[in-house]
Amino acid sequence: MKVLAIANHKGGVGKTTLAFHLIKALAEKGHNVLGIDMDPQGNLSVSLYNDRIPDEHHVKLLFDDGKEHPVPMKICDGNNGSCVYLLGSSIHLASFDSAGATLLNYFKLKSYLEKKLWKKEGEIEDVDYIIIDTPPNLGIFTMSAIVASQYLVIPLDLSIYALDGLRELTKKIRELSEEINHNIKTIGVLLMDSNERTNMAKSFNATLTENFGETFLGEIPHSIKMKEAFLDNVPVWEIAPNNKAANKMREVVFEIIKRMG
Ligand SMILES: Nc1ncnc2c1ncn2[C@@H]1O[C@H](COP(=O)(O)OP(=O)(O)OP(=O)(O)O)[C@@H](O)[C@H]1O
Ligand SMILES: [Mg+2]
Repeated sequence: MKVLAIANHKGGVGKTTLAFHLIKALAEKGHNVLGIDMDPQGNLSVSLYNDRIPDEHHVKLLFDDGKEHPVPMKICDGNNGSCVYLLGSSIHLASFDSAGATLLNYFKLKSYLEKKLWKKEGEIEDVDYIIIDTPPNLGIFTMSAIVASQYLVIPLDLSIYALDGLRELTKKIRELSEEINHNIKTIGVLLMDSNERTNMAKSFNATLTENFGETFLGEIPHSIKMKEAFLDNVPVWEIAPNNKAANKMREVVFEIIKRMG
């Protein structure tokens, strides 16, 4: 079972878009995949299941002491026999933000996944990959995802603050890793919505290549198709198979899957 978190405390950098496409690509490859939405905005949940998340499948139960553990929701049957599961979220998760930034809380998601605490309920087949989407902050939900994951991908936007944010994020992860002796491997950094032709994009690209070498996965060009696909809850390569951004998205997600081994 491989667990990957997608994180950046900056908002609107493409975390959910990437999580959604990774989940779809894994299912397409015939894997059972569990998507976990750790963001009270619930965007990943909406993109995978366009309805209210029933309480029994809600991530909030992880933080609600005394309640039963949540059970992943089977949201579709892939036509190749693979299954997508979702532990969903909504604004109701927000009240558990105040549960406190304690190590005990940070470990709740990790032990739930490691002990497969949903197993009690039966029905859930073995999950090969777990993809965790996180909110735009470094609070309890993002940190829980990092503690639970072996792999990390960091999407970035094209802004002069992006590198500062990245430094802040990697410092926080390093501190946490030292404190709890946890090794999370950053397998990808990428620009999710780039305007490649601008000088700023070119110089940013060069800086990222210099700083991250192979870890830098490149840039996904800006395309209105990305927003259209997201609104339709389908992968961009499905609605625009010849689009440059769609091709790059496909290349990037399959490279990430390869890097997870
Ligand atoms: N290559 C692209 N071209 C055009 N739009 C894009 C591209 N990549 C992402 N977007 C759009 O950018 C917006 C923000 O993306 P997304 O919601 O995935 O970011 P996020 O990091 O999850 O945001 P938040 O921090 O609020 O959770 C979305 O409307 C998405 O469709
Ligand atoms: Mg998001």
